Amino acid sequence: MSTKVCVINFKGGVGKTTLTIHLATYLASVKKKKVLVIDIDHQSSLSIVLLGGELWEQKANENKTINRLFESYCKRTVAIPGNEIIIQNPFHLKDSRYNFYPNLDMVPAQFELDNTEIELASTTIGSPTYAEWEKRTLIASWLDKVKAHEIYDYIIYDCPPATKLVSQNAVSASDFYIIPVIPDEMSSRGVSHFQELVKNNINQKLEFYRKSAPVNAKDVPINYVPSIKLAGIVPFMVKSSGRAISGIVNIHTRQMDELQTRWGDKYVEVNVKNMVGVPESIESGWPVWNTYVRNATPAVKQMMTTVCENIYSRLK
Ligand SMILES: Nc1ncnc2c1ncn2[C@@H]1O[C@H](COP(=O)(O)OP(=O)(O)OP(=O)(O)O)[C@@H](O)[C@H]1O
Ligand SMILES: [Mg+2]
Repeated sequence: MSTKVCVINFKGGVGKTTLTIHLATYLASVKKKKVLVIDIDHQSSLSIVLLGGELWEQKANENKTINRLFESYCKRTVAIPGNEIIIQNPFHLKDSRYNFYPNLDMVPAQFELDNTEIELASTTIGSPTYAEWEKRTLIASWLDKVKAHEIYDYIIYDCPPATKLVSQNAVSASDFYIIPVIPDEMSSRGVSHFQELVKNNINQKLEFYRKSAPVNAKDVPINYVPSIKLAGIVPFMVKSSGRAISGIVNIHTRQMDELQTRWGDKYVEVNVKNMVGVPESIESGWPVWNTYVRNATPAVKQMMTTVCENIYSRLK
């Protein structure tokens, strides 16, 4: 059985995609695990980084993306996809000179997913309660169909900054979630709200639909997880400052202290600093470990390794 993990936050631009890319490549290389990363964000940032623009466009034009799965619910003429939406070894496919991550596969996203999600919300097939259940467990059912749980050690979702139906599909097919958070007042406040949302609005509601539909036990996907666990809150893009004793700007120091007090051992005690070299690596299409851009220094690489090691130990 795979360990399934959502990298999620309802706030945008906090480092979800950056963390997903590094965690997935770390697990696939350092830990030699078989990893599937699923881009469920219509912005498709992760897909574009992993595949490069040209290859991603080709996959999007062929509708060989996660969009197909959601479309197949809304339009019954569209067949439920199988494993043709899985791209094996995307980094190698993008640049055949390198083969750093033969253990890493992916399912890309495409822009149209945004519109498909709107259609999904307004489509009801069968009894309304059953439809609510089915619409939120499409990913879990698809994982069953392609037997992903027998193939992959880890399945990681890069989520959009939202908790609507597509994200709910990832939550209902995940054992753990990780929240990257920029430690400022606005971002930190959102974490408590977000955690409540996951527990009450996603997990509990879905269990309610399952019981009241009712869904036969044999129809519940084996990849469905009724109760997701918070693996950790990772401070992201923490700003260093030359003057402060902590070496970190005051507002970040304050908010990190508050997060630690509030979240205890869920607070990830190592953090990702805002560093030159991270966006440059991502833009060049590789995690920091494989880029030779001048600013991806050993310190940047070590920082990402330390954070991924810490998260790995929490996914148990
Ligand atoms: N440690 C870092 N230091 C500097 N810049 C970073 C760091 N981590 C991420 N960034 C940059 O910050 C921006 C936002 O990061 P990212 O795309 O990972 O966030 P996101 O939460 O996935 O955003 P979205 O909500 O739009 O999906 C990107 O340009 C990324 O390159
Ligand atoms: Mg993102």
